[in-house]
Amino acid sequence: MIKRIGMLTSGGDCQALNATMRGVVKGLSTMVDELEVYGFDDGYKGLIYGKYRMLTSRDFSGILTQGGTILGTSRQPFKLMRVPDEKGLDKVAAMKQTYYKLCLDCLVILGGNGTQKTANLLREEGLNIIHLPKTIDNDIFGTDMTFGFHSAVEIATNCIDSIHTTAASHGRVFIVEVMGHKVGALTLYSGLAGGADIILIPEIPYDIKKVVTAIQNRAKAGKRFTILAVAEGAISKEDAKLPKKKLKEKLEADAKKYPSVSYQIADRIFKETGQEVRITVPGHTQRGGEPCAYDRVLSTRLGVGAAEAIMDEEYGVMIGLVNNKIKRVPLAECAGKLKTVSPKDETVKAAKEIGISFGD
Ligand code: F6P
Repeated sequence: MIKRIGMLTSGGDCQALNATMRGVVKGLSTMVDELEVYGFDDGYKGLIYGKYRMLTSRDFSGILTQGGTILGTSRQPFKLMRVPDEKGLDKVAAMKQTYYKLCLDCLVILGGNGTQKTANLLREEGLNIIHLPKTIDNDIFGTDMTFGFHSAVEIATNCIDSIHTTAASHGRVFIVEVMGHKVGALTLYSGLAGGADIILIPEIPYDIKKVVTAIQNRAKAGKRFTILAVAEGAISKEDAKLPKKKLKEKLEADAKKYPSVSYQIADRIFKETGQEVRITVPGHTQRGGEPCAYDRVLSTRLGVGAAEAIMDEEYGVMIGLVNNKIKRVPLAECAGKLKTVSPKDETVKAAKEIGISFGD
């Protein structure tokens, strides 16, 4: 039996993209007589503009531990997919044309929420699609875990660990700003793993007075330093109450004054306490380097799950992890939905029970 598949990685990169593609291809190689794999350059761009290359099993050898993506990636916003490009090209029609020209049995798409929405659009347009959930944010609805998350947790945790020693020497307040604009899972996990004293995430708006009290209470208890793990999208209670339009205006005004939310929080802490605050932003290092062991195993399982779905010709699904089992989740049920951290989450509860403040 011959299978002809296309593959692309889209959106922000993360660790274990290569490990996942390897899982798909190695898995399929043992299941079919002949396999043709077309890799598209830089995500949907390659599919739109017909930029691809044929890959062989050799391309997937030795990439289990390699970060980034051998295919390259780019952000192609979902909301612009139906908007013609600067030369008037209909992007959706162009993607379909590439797919049919190559006579693909299926297109395997690795990416996060935005990527998944376009994958679902292509499914609605009649293409055979398999989506694999990638992101350091672990915010994809319908899967308990995304690949990349645990690798990023390791990096952000190492950053908080390193800050501990210098914070203790100087007796300072430190903020470590962790990635995650809408969802705080990465900040929650790394904050907990790194022993942060205060964790601020978008899902639990903070009251700066409570943050300040938590810092002062530590000082009163004889603690020389305080470490805050702050998500990029942490939001104050006042801002969270604003209507959408007003909030947008407020955030735009804040962005002119502060490079990021951490600088704003640091400013407020300094004004209220007179304490020196230092900020560390690990930024894109959180998406870099090699995947951790957990992600390598998860990616291999998800990749093989994709290969099995292709053999069963069950398309239009995301291959997810649900209760530690690989599941085929219909794209129609999960695309366009965001998985957030519930303020009642057991992990949040455990953090609070050991005295970590969420500023709420
Ligand atoms: O979605 C992954 C992510 O790393 C987010 O955590 C972060 O807010 C965003 O991407 C950064 O995007 P970019 O790489 O485009 O700056």
